[in-house]
Amino acid sequence: MKLLVTGGAGFIGSNFIHLILERRKDVEIVNLDKLTYAGNPANLKAIEDDKRYSFIKGDICDAEIVKQAMSGCDVVVNFAAETHVDRSIDDPQSFLKTNIFGVQVLLDEAKNTGVEKFIQISTDEVYGSIERGSFSEGDRLSPRSPYSASKAGGEMLAQAYFVTYNSPVIITRGVNSIGPYQYPEKAVPLFTTNAMEDKELPIYGDGLQVRDYMHVYDHCAALDLLLDKGQAGEIYNIGAENELPNIEMAKLILAELGKPQSLIKHVTDRPGHDRRYAVDTAKIRTLGWAPKYNAKQAIKAAIQWFVENRAWWEPIKSGAFREYYEQMYGKR
Ligand code: NAD
Ligand code: DAU
Repeated sequence: MKLLVTGGAGFIGSNFIHLILERRKDVEIVNLDKLTYAGNPANLKAIEDDKRYSFIKGDICDAEIVKQAMSGCDVVVNFAAETHVDRSIDDPQSFLKTNIFGVQVLLDEAKNTGVEKFIQISTDEVYGSIERGSFSEGDRLSPRSPYSASKAGGEMLAQAYFVTYNSPVIITRGVNSIGPYQYPEKAVPLFTTNAMEDKELPIYGDGLQVRDYMHVYDHCAALDLLLDKGQAGEIYNIGAENELPNIEMAKLILAELGKPQSLIKHVTDRPGHDRRYAVDTAKIRTLGWAPKYNAKQAIKAAIQWFVENRAWWEPIKSGAFREYYEQMYGKR
C-alpha cells in the first residue's frame, strides 16, 4: 500500500507515520507538508532514513506539487490543516485557504489519480457545543469558530465529491488528542511545559469547559483500523469518552509535576468558547476499536513525554513561539 500523508510533520500526522511504519511492513509513505510553524522535521527524525518513507515540502493548495506527491498512491490521509482555534479568531483567512481550498485541490487530484481511499481528518468541533449527551455522526453540524467552520467546509466538499464523483471519501471526527510532539500552543502541552518552567497556567474563563482528552496513540490506532475497515461515504467519530473540565486537567498536571496549585491563573475567556464537546463512538467501536488510555492515563503519559523530551520543546518555546505567547496572553 502506498500512502500519501499530508501534514505528516505535525502532531497527529507524525504519530500516525510512526505507528504505520511500525505496524505495517509492506507500506510506502509519502509525506507532503508545508512546514508551517506547526510542522517540525524533528518529529520524524527517528524514521527519516527508513527506505519506505519520503518527504516533500509543499502546500496542499498547490495543484502541481499535489499531483507529484500523489502519483502512484493508493490512499490519501489528509491531516494538513491550520489547527489552533485561537489563531483562527485572529486570522480566519489562512484557515479557509488550507482547510477548504486545500482539501478541494487534494480531492480533485485524488479523482484524477483514482485513489482507492481518501481519509479526511476532521474534528468533533464541527458539531459545536453540547450541554448533555453526545453527538452521533448523522447530527447537524453547527461550527462556532472560524477553525471549526473551515473544517466543516472541508468535510462538506469531501461529502460532495463522494456523491458527485463517487470519490472514496471517509471522514473522521476526532476529539482533543494529546501526546508526543504536540505543539505547545495547545492546552495540555502549554500547561505542562509552563508548569515545568514555574510559569502560570492561563485558564480561559471559569475553566469549566469540558473536553474529551484522548491519547494520540488511540486516535492513530483508530485511523489505522479505518485504512482496512472504513467504508467510503461514511463518517466516524473517534473519541475516548474521557471527559474532563479544563480546571481539573490543569490541577492534575500541577499535582503530577509536584507544582503549586497557585500557578493557575484565570484569564479572559476565548471568544465564542465552546463549553463542552462529546461524541458517541459506537460506530467505530463496532469495527473493533477501543481506546487504551483513560483521561488520567492519557494526560499522565503526555506529561511524562514532555518531561523526558525537553530538548524537543525548549527550542520551540524560546523561539518564534515566545513572540506569539507574549502577544496572545499579553492581551488577556
Ligand atoms: P498540527 O497543527 O500539529 O499540524 C498540522 C500540520 O499540517 C503541520 O505539519 C503543518 O506544517 C501542516 N500544514 C499546514 N498547512 C499546510 C498546507 N497548506 N499544506 C501542507 N501542509 C500544511 O495539527 P494536528 O493537531 O496534528 O492536527 C492534524 C489534523 O487533525 C488536522 O486536520 C486537525 O484539524 C485534526 N484534528 C486535530 C485534533 C487535535 O486534538 N489535535 C483533534 C481532531 C482532529
Ligand atoms: O476537539 C478537537 C480539537 O481540539 C481539534 O480539532 C483542534 O485542532 C485542537 O486544537 C483542539 O481544540 P481545543 O480548542 O479544544 O484545544 P486547546 O488545546 O486549544 O484548548 C483545550 C481547552 O483548554 C479549551 O477549552 C480551551 C482551553 N484553554 C486553551 C488554552 C490554549 C485554556 O483554558 N487556556 C489556554 O491557554
